[in-house]
Amino acid sequence: MVNLESPLKANSTASSRAHGPYEPPFYNFWHHLFTPDKVDQWGETVRVELPASPIDREALRGHYDDFEAAIAASIHTCDADVLGELLERQADFPKMWNRANEKAFTRLELLERQQDFLKMWNRANEKAFTRLAENGIFTSDTPSADWQTVHGLFPRGFNQLKIQNAYFPIIVKKTNAFVAEWSRFEPAHLVTGVNNWLACMTADAVIKAACNVDMDNIARRARGEPAHPILETFRRLGSINPALAKPWQVVGLANFLNPFYDTKAGQERMYSQLKGQLQGMVEQLIEQTRRGELGDTLLSSLISEKSPATGLYVRQSLLFSHFATLLVAGHETTANTMGFLMYHLSQNPKWEERLRAEIREVLGGRTKLAASDIPRLVVAEACFKEALRLHPPAGNVGRDAAHDTVLKGQYLVRRGQRISVNLVALHRQPRHWGGEFGDPNTFNPARFMPGAAEAAGRHPHAFKPFGFGVRACAGMQFAMWEAKTLIPMLYHNFTFRLVEKFMLRPSRKESFPSPSAEGLALYIYPAPGAPAAAAAAGFAATAATLDSIMPPAGEQPQLPKAGAVLFVTSTYNGEPPDNALRFAKWLPAAAAAAAAAGGAVEGLPFAVLGVGNSQWATYQAFPRLLDSCLAAAGGLRLAPVIEADTEAPGFADAAGECWGSLCPLLLAHFKVAAPSDSSAAAAAAASAPRLLLEAAGPATPPLTIREVLGQLRAYGRATGNAAADQAEGNGSTAAAAAAAPQGFPYDLLRVVSSEELQAPGSGRFTRHVDLELPQGMSYAPGDHLEVLPRNAPALVDSALELLQLTGHEAFWWTPSSQGAARGLSSLHPTANPSSSSPATNTNRTSNGPAAAENAASPAANSAADVLRLPVSSRDVLAWLVDLSALPPMRLVAALAAECPCPPEAAALQRMATEACYKEQVLGQQLTLLELLARHRSLLAAGLDLPRLAGLLPRLAPRYYSISSSPAGPAGPQRASITVALVEFSSPTGRLHRGAASGTIHGQQVGLYLAGTVRQLQSRFRLPPNPATPLIMVGPGTGVAPFMGFLQQRAAQQQAGAALGPAVLFFGCRTEQDFLYQQQLQAWQENGVLTDLQVAFSRLPGKKQGGKTYVQDLIAESAQQLWELLHGSGAYVYVCGDARRMAPDVRAAFEGVACGVGGLDAAAAAEWMREMRQQGRYLEDVWAS
Ligand SMILES: Cc1cc2nc3c(=O)[nH]c(=O)nc-3n(C[C@H](O)[C@H](O)[C@H](O)COP(=O)(O)OP(=O)(O)OC[C@H]3O[C@@H](n4cnc5c(N)ncnc54)[C@H](O)[C@@H]3O)c2cc1C
Ligand code: HEM
Repeated sequence: MVNLESPLKANSTASSRAHGPYEPPFYNFWHHLFTPDKVDQWGETVRVELPASPIDREALRGHYDDFEAAIAASIHTCDADVLGELLERQADFPKMWNRANEKAFTRLELLERQQDFLKMWNRANEKAFTRLAENGIFTSDTPSADWQTVHGLFPRGFNQLKIQNAYFPIIVKKTNAFVAEWSRFEPAHLVTGVNNWLACMTADAVIKAACNVDMDNIARRARGEPAHPILETFRRLGSINPALAKPWQVVGLANFLNPFYDTKAGQERMYSQLKGQLQGMVEQLIEQTRRGELGDTLLSSLISEKSPATGLYVRQSLLFSHFATLLVAGHETTANTMGFLMYHLSQNPKWEERLRAEIREVLGGRTKLAASDIPRLVVAEACFKEALRLHPPAGNVGRDAAHDTVLKGQYLVRRGQRISVNLVALHRQPRHWGGEFGDPNTFNPARFMPGAAEAAGRHPHAFKPFGFGVRACAGMQFAMWEAKTLIPMLYHNFTFRLVEKFMLRPSRKESFPSPSAEGLALYIYPAPGAPAAAAAAGFAATAATLDSIMPPAGEQPQLPKAGAVLFVTSTYNGEPPDNALRFAKWLPAAAAAAAAAGGAVEGLPFAVLGVGNSQWATYQAFPRLLDSCLAAAGGLRLAPVIEADTEAPGFADAAGECWGSLCPLLLAHFKVAAPSDSSAAAAAAASAPRLLLEAAGPATPPLTIREVLGQLRAYGRATGNAAADQAEGNGSTAAAAAAAPQGFPYDLLRVVSSEELQAPGSGRFTRHVDLELPQGMSYAPGDHLEVLPRNAPALVDSALELLQLTGHEAFWWTPSSQGAARGLSSLHPTANPSSSSPATNTNRTSNGPAAAENAASPAANSAADVLRLPVSSRDVLAWLVDLSALPPMRLVAALAAECPCPPEAAALQRMATEACYKEQVLGQQLTLLELLARHRSLLAAGLDLPRLAGLLPRLAPRYYSISSSPAGPAGPQRASITVALVEFSSPTGRLHRGAASGTIHGQQVGLYLAGTVRQLQSRFRLPPNPATPLIMVGPGTGVAPFMGFLQQRAAQQQAGAALGPAVLFFGCRTEQDFLYQQQLQAWQENGVLTDLQVAFSRLPGKKQGGKTYVQDLIAESAQQLWELLHGSGAYVYVCGDARRMAPDVRAAFEGVACGVGGLDAAAAAEWMREMRQQGRYLEDVWAS
C-alpha cells in the first residue's frame, strides 16, 4: 500500500499564506502554493486538505467510496510528468467538473453551495461559469452523454479547414474594422479599455463564425454605444459573481443597506432575470437558425445533426448552454491574452519591431493577410504563445479520479478526488522555461520560435494553456488565427506606449471567465512607415519600394489592380534613388510603348510626392519624370506632382501636409465621404519611435562601438549570405545578387595621415586625410567615401547631463532599418536569421574587438535570436541619434500635450503655432535638446533616453568625394578625402562642430574612422578615352574628385597614354586657402593638367567689385571652352556648392554657348539639357 500522505498539508486560504514569505503574486489563487521563483519549494505536487461544509457532506455522501478522503482533499500539481500521466490515463482521470449539476441540486442550494465551494475549492469563477452554461460542452462531465454528443459535433465546426475557408474571412473583416477604428485616433491618443476593445473584436468574430450574426460590437464601442444586447447581458451576468462584484454593486447600495432586504435573494432574482433575457435572445437566434435564415452554421449543425459519437441529437434544452459556453470560453480568453501581449510588447520593443518586420515581409506590399500567410507568422505566434504561457486564461485544468488509483507511483488518489493542474506554475517552472531564455517570469517569445523547444529539450507537457486530451480546447485554432491576424495588423499600423508607471496587475475585475491586464490603456501612434494616415481616412494601405515590386526579369511590375498608388521619391542628381533603379529603367520604355504598359499602369490612379532640395539643378527631376511617364503609360493622374522642398521652413511637417492635400482627392476619386475626424489623417510616421532601445541591467557591460561594428558586420554577412543562399537555392541568381549586398557595408578605415591644407591665418580648416581601406573594399576615381559621423563630445555631454546619466549605463539596442536607408541602423534584421548567424546571439556580450570580430562560433545560437546589442548611453547619444536635429512643429505640439507643468505646457503650445515656430525654432535653430533644457518638467515626467532616442532622427552618414585614384602612388588600398571643418555658432549661442567633419578632423593618425566606399548614381567618372578633353570646375573642397582624376591621368601618362586637354577652374579666397597648390602646379608643369585657372574671391581681381568666382573665369575663357565643348566633345565636371556655385556655373556655360556658339537663350538651355542627358555635363554637388 502506498503512503497516502502527500508532501504537504495545507488547509484553507488563511493558512496557505503562511507557507511562504510571498504574498500571492498572481491572480491564480493556488499559485501561492508554487511560488514564482521557487516552484519546488513545497514540492511540485501538493495535497490540500480543506474542511468540507455540512451541505457538501450531505450532498456528496454516498457518491464516493471513501467520502472523507475524496472530498476533503484535492491535489494540486505543476508537475509536467503528472500532467503527462493524466493525459495517458484519461479513462482513469475524466473531467468531472459538473458534479454539482449531475446531482441536480435545486438552484438555491446551488447558490449556497457555490459560496461554500468558493471557500472550499476557490473556484468561484468555475462555479459562476457552470451556473450560466450548466451542462454545456465546457462544463459537462466527460462520461456524460451530453458531453459525448456535443463533442462529436462541436469540433467539426471549428476544424482547421473550416477556419481557413469560412472563418478566416470573418476574422480579417473584423480585424480591418478594428484597425480602421483605431486609425481614427490622433497620434498620442490614449486608448482606454483596451481589453474591452479586444473583447468586442473576439466576441464579434466567434458569434459571427458560430451563428452568422454580426453583433457589430467594434463599431458600437467606437460610437460609445452599449454592446450588442447579447454581449451586454452576458457581461452583466458575469458581473453577478462573488469574485467580481460586491453584492451592493449588483443589487444597489440602497437595497444592500436596507436591513429588511434579502441581498442574496436580490442577487439571485437579478441573475435569473438576466439569464432569462439572454435565454430569450438565444432562443430567437435558434429559431432563426431553425428556419434557415442564418444559413449553415455551427449552431445549425448542433440543432439538426446527429452526433457521430453517440448517434444522439443534442438535447434542445442544452442549446443555450452550448451557446453560453461559446461566449464564455470563446472570446475573453483570446482577447485578454492579446491584451497581455500588447502590454509585454510595449515593454519589449525589440519583439515589437520583429513582429512588425515579419508582417511587413509576409505582406510584401499587399494590404491584406491571406489564409496562406498565417503559418508564416512565426514571430506573431511565438509572441502570443509567450503571453499564453505567462497568463494562461484558465489558471487550472482539473481532472477527477474515476476510481481509487495511484498517480506517479506515489500519490494515492481516491475516487472523485480532483487533481488540479496549476498552469500558471507549470508555465513558469524554471526547469522548463529558464536557462538560456532567462527568468521564466519574464517575456521572451524566443522560447516559442521554431526549434527552440527542441533545442532546449523542453518537456512535452510543460505548456498546456488549452488544456489537454479529449477535453482540450475546441477553439484553439480559432483563437490562434484570430490572434495571428489581429495582433500583426495592429502592429503593422500602430505603435503603442503604456501610460507612465502602469503596473501589470492580472485581475478579473474587467472580465468574467479569465483574468486580464487590469486597466490596460495605451497611447497610440502610427507605426513607422505605416500607412496609418491613409488608414485614418479609411484606406487600407501598405508601403513598398519600387524595385521590390519588379519581378526578377523583364516582366511588368506588380502594381495593384485596384485602389490608388502614391509614389514618394527623392532624386539624386536627376537620377532615381537606388531602390527604384530597376523600376526607373522599365518605366520610360513602358511609357513609350503605352500598349505594352497597359497591363500594369493603364487606368491606375496615382499621385507623386517628390522630396528634394530646391538648391539642386535637378530638383524634382526624377519625381517629375516618374509623373510624366506614368501619365504617358495610361495612369490616371490624381494631382500634379506634390513637391516637398527640404530647404523650405517646416519641411519636417511636409509629409503630413502632403497627405492633407491628397486625401480629399482620393476620397473624391473613390466617391467616399470624408470621415468626420479625418484631421487624424495628418498622423505622421515621424512621431513614431525611430530607435529601439531598452534599459539593460547593470550586469550587462556595454560593447565598445568597435565591437558594435564588428557584430553588425558579422550579422550583415551572415544574413546577407543566408538571403543569397536562399535565393540561389530557389534558382534565382538575380535575386542572389540582389540579396548579397544586403549586409552591413561599413568597416574600419585606418587613418594613415591627416594634413591641414589651409595656411595658418586663413580662418578655415580643411584636411587631407589618407585612409587605409580594408581588404575587399575598392573604388574608382569619382567615387565617394561614406563616413559614419559622431555627435560632438560637448553635445553628448550636455545630453547626458540633461538626462542625468553618467554615460556608462547599458541599453539594449535593436538595429532596424526602419526609416534609415543608410548608416549604423541600416541593417535589415531578418525575421528568422539563420541559426548559423554568428552575430545573432549577442545576448552574450563579447569582451573586446577580437571577440566581436571573431564571434563566429555558431554553436550556441538558437534560431530564435534577434540582434540586440548592449550599447552605453554615451555611445547611443554619440553615434545613433542626431542631437542637432530641430524638432518638427508636430512634435512640439505633442510635447506640449504631455508637459505636466502648466506654464511650460502653455509656452510649448505657443511655440507650436506657425509664426512662433518659425521664429523660435527655425529662426533660432533650436534643437530638441535645447527645447528640453528649457522645459525640464518633460524630463521629470519620464522623458528618458529610450523615449528621447525615439524622437530624434537617426544620425545619417556623410559623403566625401574621394580625392585620390587607386592608380595613384599610394596604391588601390588607400583612399584620401578632403574635408572642410564645419563650425559655427547658432543664434542661441550653441557652438556647433560638424558631426562628421569634426570627427574626421579630430581623429588621430593610426586610429580609425567607420565608413565605406559608395558609388552614387551620378556617372561622375572619367571618360573612357584619356584623349577626351576635360573641363573641371571645383572651388574649395570641390577640387577633391579632380585630385583623383588628375592622379589617374598622371598614372595614364606614365603608362604612355596620350592625354587630351584638361582645364581646371579652382576657386578660393586668397593664396592661404589655395588647396593643393603645389601639386596642381606640378601637374600643370608636366601636362597632366593643361590649364589651371584660379578665381580668388578676396583678392583684387579683374572683375568690377573685386571678387572673382569660377563662373567669371569661365566667361573669360569662353572661346577656348566652346572649342573644347563643341569641337572636341569635352566633358564638363562640376563639384562643390549646390546652392550658388552650381547654378551660376551652369548659367556661365550657357553664356558661353550663347556668346561664342551663337545660340539664343532657349537653344543654349536645350544644349545644356542634351549635354546632361548624354552624361557630358556632370555635377557632384551638395548643399553646404
Ligand atoms: C555627394 C556629396 C559629396 C560631398 N563631398 C564633400 C567633400 O569632398 N568634402 C567636404 O568637406 N564635404 C563634402 N560633402 C559635404 C559633407 O558630406 C558634409 O555634409 C559636411 O562635411 C558637413 O557634415 P558634418 O557632419 O561635419 O556637419 P553637420 O554636423 O551635419 O553640420 C552641417 C549642418 O550645419 C549647417 N550649417 C553649416 N554652417 C552653418 C552656419 N554657419 N550657420 C548655421 N548652420 C550652418 C548646414 O546647413 C548643415 O545642415 C559632400 C556632400 C555630398 C552630398
Ligand atoms: C486563448 C484562447 C483560449 C484559451 C487559452 C482556451 C483555453 C481552454 C481550456 C484550458 C479549456 C479546458 C481544457 C481542459 O479541460 O483540458 C478550453 C475548453 C474549451 N474551449 Fe477554449 N480557450 C481559448 C479560446 C477558445 C475559443 C476562441 C473557443 C471557441 C471558438 C473556445 C472553445 C472551447 C470549448 C468549446 C471548450 C470545451 C471543450 C471540451 O470540454 O470538450 N476556446 N479552452
